[in-house]
Amino acid sequence: MNFFKPLRKLYIKSTDFTHSYQGKDKKLVSFYKAWSYCYDFSVNLDPAFGREMKTMIGLTVKPGDTTLDIGCGTGISTFYASRIVAKVIGIDLSADMVRKLEQKISRRKSVNIEVITGRFPEALPHNIRFNSIISSFAIVHFTPEQRKNIYKQIYNLLLSGGRLGLFSAQGEIASSFETKNEIVNNLESAGFNKIEVDSVSDIYRIIKAEKQ
Ligand SMILES: C[S@@+](CC[C@H](N)C(=O)[O-])C[C@H]1O[C@@H](n2cnc3c(N)ncnc32)[C@H](O)[C@@H]1O
Repeated sequence: MNFFKPLRKLYIKSTDFTHSYQGKDKKLVSFYKAWSYCYDFSVNLDPAFGREMKTMIGLTVKPGDTTLDIGCGTGISTFYASRIVAKVIGIDLSADMVRKLEQKISRRKSVNIEVITGRFPEALPHNIRFNSIISSFAIVHFTPEQRKNIYKQIYNLLLSGGRLGLFSAQGEIASSFETKNEIVNNLESAGFNKIEVDSVSDIYRIIKAEKQ
């Protein structure tokens, strides 16, 4: 496993260029148009990516939940959650990433996944509420200013007792991501309780919070 350590750090530092894409939907859509073809292959090169994401999902969702997956992309997180919960709704800005997820849904004949192609939060139907919300490597695409409001929107979308689980990288290593202090402040300001932030596998971060 030590072999992965320097590679992980190099990889995550190399993503700092995405700073300039934060909050810029058109740039993000063209970036993911190209990346959709090799996204699953590239993230799965690091076995810790799927393993730690799965840990976050296991800590967040429960059987019977209706779950939202923000920035679901090709659906790696969506499928993990769908094996546990009653229903998952994935939302993503990139039609190209979503197409990969839809192909998997029809190949695997999954019946409890719904997909919305559009921007979070605006593209979600009104009056919908969730037992749990997960998001993996998507909050990084909002600017630091936008994130404060995004966490408030997430809080409002959760039912009372609802759970939030985030999987991301450590902002102390790669500056486009949130630092531990930033995330705790943002989640507290949004109204969340029981906030836990854990650093895992050198560069990753698992965050849990609850709406009481
Ligand atoms: C790095 S990918 C992560 C995909 C998946 N969650 C995973 O971890 O494998 C980030 C995804 O977030 C999506 N995204 C970024 N901003 C978004 C927004 N405002 N609304 C919906 N999706 C967004 C992108 O289109 C992209 O598919």
